[in-house]
Amino acid sequence: MKKMSLKALIAPSLLSGDFARLAEEAQAMKDAGADWLHMDVMDGHFVPNLTIGPPVIQSLRKHTDMFMDCHLMVSQPEKWVDDFHKAGASSITFHIETVEDPAEFIKKVKSTGMRVGIALKPSTKLETILPYVKDVDMVLVMTVEPGFGGQEFMADQMSKVRELRAQYPTLDIEVDGGLNEKTIDTAAEAGANVIVSGSGVFKAQDKKEAIEVLRRAVNKHIFTN
Ligand code: DX5
Ligand code: ZN
Repeated sequence: MKKMSLKALIAPSLLSGDFARLAEEAQAMKDAGADWLHMDVMDGHFVPNLTIGPPVIQSLRKHTDMFMDCHLMVSQPEKWVDDFHKAGASSITFHIETVEDPAEFIKKVKSTGMRVGIALKPSTKLETILPYVKDVDMVLVMTVEPGFGGQEFMADQMSKVRELRAQYPTLDIEVDGGLNEKTIDTAAEAGANVIVSGSGVFKAQDKKEAIEVLRRAVNKHIFTN
């Protein structure tokens, strides 16, 4: 029971939802038992895709009280911290290679009251973030190349999760990409407790059950390890 303070948090990615009906999709996820909404922000520069930004977060905030977990796949994220905060974002997760001074960026996000996370894409080494882990609320280990939903889960990224979990028993460790009923056990066993799932949840017939399957797997590992 040494990890009692760890909680399974299931964060469906609205990237797999219908962007024309975001408020309804958010409500459907809430009704299905989701803990967070995962918002994928892409700038066509850091990743080869374009999605949403603060105006969309602001519009959606009028329709939901859910925690909005904003995953910034953008260059120069420091330009946008205040805008995301004003728009109603609950957290900002940035990719380590996008900022010149990670410590400064972390401080800036925290000063707004939002939570802060650091993300690692598959080719980025765990060592690059280690000096900053003690100062953040969460580490996001990408299990696909950032940019698109619906890709295959990369199990080889689990060594990062395992190493982080060994060093930080109560840190929120998020995995993102290819998570579904087939891959969740691998991620949960490695020590992930925050689970992003786009196509895994949105393509499921029974979204409530899809979320429950993810949660059960995480809880099983939290309480047996
Ligand atoms: C990819 C995004 C993910 C994506 C996951 O760059 O960061 O959040 O929505 O989608 P699935 O779960 O379909 O791999
Ligand atoms: Zn994401």
